[in-house]
Amino acid sequence: MARASVASVLRTVTATRYVTPFREGGSLPGLMEADDLGTYVVKYVGAGQGRKTLVAEIICAGLARAVGLRVPELVLVEVDPELGRSEPDEEVQDLLKASGGLNLGMDFLPGSLGFDPLAHRIDPGEAATVVWFDALVGNVDRSWRNPNMLMWHRQLWLIDHGACLTFHHAWSRAGSWAEKPYDTGNHVLRDMATADVSPTLTQDQVQAAVADVPNLWLEDEEGFDSPGAVREAYVEQILRRLAR
Ligand SMILES: Nc1ncnc2c1ncn2[C@@H]1O[C@H](COP(=O)(O)OP(=O)(O)OP(=O)(O)O)[C@@H](O)[C@H]1O
Ligand SMILES: [Mg+2]
Repeated sequence: MARASVASVLRTVTATRYVTPFREGGSLPGLMEADDLGTYVVKYVGAGQGRKTLVAEIICAGLARAVGLRVPELVLVEVDPELGRSEPDEEVQDLLKASGGLNLGMDFLPGSLGFDPLAHRIDPGEAATVVWFDALVGNVDRSWRNPNMLMWHRQLWLIDHGACLTFHHAWSRAGSWAEKPYDTGNHVLRDMATADVSPTLTQDQVQAAVADVPNLWLEDEEGFDSPGAVREAYVEQILRRLAR
């Protein structure tokens, strides 16, 4: 197999202002402004599952885009914990303190609405592609209660893929993940996904999605001797599941 490239192509920006925490997000992401004048939803490297959540976000965004779905732009955000000094919430303070350096930012979509299956209609082919994609990455976070999709300018945008690709929490058992059936029972788009679709992903596309992860978040992974080896393992797992 050709070796996946090692340099992330995600842009790096520096946070200049901490605006507010997103209370509706379980991981307490923060809204921040950056030196490129952009506004980003920042997910912290020091939160709960740590960097693996961020790795899953990056790889899934790349895979989703490769099959034509929309995900807001991702950037790497340099965060100085001092930025949050006026934030009164202690939990947020602790998160920021644990997250100095590179974090993951997602372009903030101003005025977007949380997807509501009773209010929003989407194309059956697009709905079926989302279900297909969620089955590929093992996404359990697309339920009625927590759809993790936004409507913005009448288009559907996918967010929050941090809980996907769970095999990376136990590499030694990763093989069984690839075989695991996906339960669409709670999927919010189940009834809208009435079209037959057969999206394709090439090995190059999978490698490109994995290449977006910065080396820093793949270093010192137990059982691997280099970030490149971890990349290859991600590509292999995803290709194995694709082949199913
Ligand atoms: N790019 C964005 N533009 C606008 N709003 C966003 C964006 N990303 C996230 N949000 C808002 O922030 C909330 C939390 O984001 P997200 O679901 O990614 O965080 P989380 O902590 O992983 O949440 P969860 O509780 O689902 O695990 C979303 O439900 C949405 O309301
Ligand atoms: Mg969410």
